Amino acid sequence: MVGRPTASTLFQRGHQVAVLSRGGTAGPAGTEAFQGDLTTGAGLDQALAGVDCVVDCANVATMSRAAAVRYFTDTTTLLGRRAEAAGVKHHVVLSIVGIDKVPQGYFSGKLAQEEAVLGGPVPATVLRATQFHEFAGQVMGQLAVGRFALVPQMVTQPIAAAEVGAALAEVVEDGPRGRVPDIGGPRVERLPDLARQLVRHRGLGRTVVPLWLPGKAGRAMRGSGQLPGPGAVLRGPTFAEWLRDQ
Ligand SMILES: NC(=O)c1ccc[n+]([C@@H]2O[C@H](COP(=O)([O-])OP(=O)(O)OC[C@H]3O[C@@H](n4cnc5c(N)ncnc54)[C@H](OP(=O)(O)O)[C@@H]3O)[C@@H](O)[C@H]2O)c1
Repeated sequence: MVGRPTASTLFQRGHQVAVLSRGGTAGPAGTEAFQGDLTTGAGLDQALAGVDCVVDCANVATMSRAAAVRYFTDTTTLLGRRAEAAGVKHHVVLSIVGIDKVPQGYFSGKLAQEEAVLGGPVPATVLRATQFHEFAGQVMGQLAVGRFALVPQMVTQPIAAAEVGAALAEVVEDGPRGRVPDIGGPRVERLPDLARQLVRHRGLGRTVVPLWLPGKAGRAMRGSGQLPGPGAVLRGPTFAEWLRDQ
């Protein structure tokens, strides 16, 4: 979702871009695709040859704390070691706003990833972004029961993935900075409302059912847990503007 616009923005700004994935799928025009796996290290050395900066936009679909912590710790540590050996000078990780405020399994994995990269061998930058505008569609695809789409009651200030890609390209050019200011979109929204707009716009014929998640995590998600703080940079179109342009 965000690797693609990041790669194309970097290419448009004059960089040579190598795109790594397990599928080895072709990236945006002008980029070179590599097949590899961050969990095993296969294909990494070929992809890292001659590289100055690595931008980690890999992901795992899990809500399990143990699985998320293992995936993000292991892949980030392995990538850091291989990157150092290849002479890479900057390791960038894309993280998520509010991972320290909402106690859920996947977010524990992202916290572990931040720790692994900031304590790793290659000078690093961590950029936290809010949910992407595309997130509503991702969630609807994951939690569907017949014509009903279950969408968590979540308050978010979403940003276009393309905008996050542009921000990551700027981070690459700025060099290693540690944790940089968070980024988010221009408006506070409720996730079920975004899903309903998406259903209407795309004529999906689905009914959105808000899902009330229990416990501390549910309360934090319905409150301000995932909203960007005062020092955040807000950029890009609102969800409605973005949807109009799709
Ligand atoms: N979605 C959001 O709203 C959001 C918001 C803020 C931050 N983020 C963060 O942004 C990052 C990217 O999210 P996304 O939604 O863009 O993810 P995504 O669409 O699921 O893409 C993940 C990419 O990683 C590759 N990948 C997965 N496992 C890999 C492995 N073991 N080795 C090599 N490549 C692998 C996948 O390709 P293959 O399957 O072919 O390997 C795919 O290209 C994540 O770290 C996420 O936490 C997401």
